[in-house]
Amino acid sequence: MVIGKLKIENPFFLAPMAGVTDYAFRLICKEQGAGIVYSEFVSAHGIIRENSKTLNMIQFSEAERPIGIQIFGDEPEVMSKAAKEIVHRFDPDLIDINYGCPVPKITKKGAGSAALKDLCLMDEITAAVIETVKDRPVTVKMRAGWDKNSIVIPEAGVRLEALGVSAITLHPRTANQKYTGFADWSLIKELKNSVKIPVIGNGDIRSPNDATRMFEETGCDAIMIGRAALGNPWIFKQLNNDRDGIVSLPPSPNDLIEMCERHLQLLIEDKGEYIATNLIRKHFGWYIKGFPSAASIRKSLVSSSGIDEMREILFTMKS
Ligand SMILES: Cc1cc2nc3c(=O)[nH]c(=O)nc-3n(C[C@H](O)[C@H](O)[C@H](O)COP(=O)(O)O)c2cc1C
Repeated sequence: MVIGKLKIENPFFLAPMAGVTDYAFRLICKEQGAGIVYSEFVSAHGIIRENSKTLNMIQFSEAERPIGIQIFGDEPEVMSKAAKEIVHRFDPDLIDINYGCPVPKITKKGAGSAALKDLCLMDEITAAVIETVKDRPVTVKMRAGWDKNSIVIPEAGVRLEALGVSAITLHPRTANQKYTGFADWSLIKELKNSVKIPVIGNGDIRSPNDATRMFEETGCDAIMIGRAALGNPWIFKQLNNDRDGIVSLPPSPNDLIEMCERHLQLLIEDKGEYIATNLIRKHFGWYIKGFPSAASIRKSLVSSSGIDEMREILFTMKS
């Protein structure tokens, strides 16, 4: 599939996830067949202030391409400066704007899904970013509206397309819903029927069957996977296999342990032992969810004192 001039090998995208889609997880998902990966959302203010933590979140390796960097913010000028800076310093394949984050810390400043309450501000931010980033696609990831009484799809999509956005990802929950209830896929269909640019459907896909159903029910051009990839990066291989009519075997317990080891190793290379030890614990919990005696293994991994003990526990789990 194509977004702007960017060719993407397959329509199975890894969703941006704060605290999750760092270098290690993106690379693993890419290796398992994700068509494109995204950074966690990064603050436009942080970028223009040259905050080192924010800038570190943007760094990526060539092996991860194609990659989108996602930004959030509430001021057109700051957003456009930040986008320019990212392109100049890091040269990503696309810039994605976050109009979906429902977290109060973000929305109370007018960023993330708060823009769904003010389509004029959304227009201004989007136009400012597109104006600065002329040579690569600018995409948008959004929710369906602020609450059930103010659904902005498809109107917002039509406006964004007119401004020059190259693709829209829709997670069709409202901001108020956060992650409760269900994603209303009929809104993805409505959006798809209202615009010509690619529409990426997102929300509640847990299996290749769900993916097929989303393509069929909505006509979307690609799908984006978030929570179903946690502890299960193999989902991208399964989706590609399923599309090609190949039956996928679930990962074996040894595959799971080896992935835990690799994930830990990549995190150490990227962030050093201290940070890696803390970050890996939640991933361990996700990887071993379906493992025999998962609860006791999780407990020992989570309470382990450091890298050596973690590695030893993983080693003894191997059959
Ligand atoms: C831990 C976590 C962090 C997330 N962070 C972001 C983010 O930084 N940017 C964003 O656009 N969406 C973020 N999301 C939302 C996901 O990208 C996705 O839209 C949502 O999880 C619905 O898709 P799913 O049902 O496949 O999980 C996050 C979701 C989770 C679970």
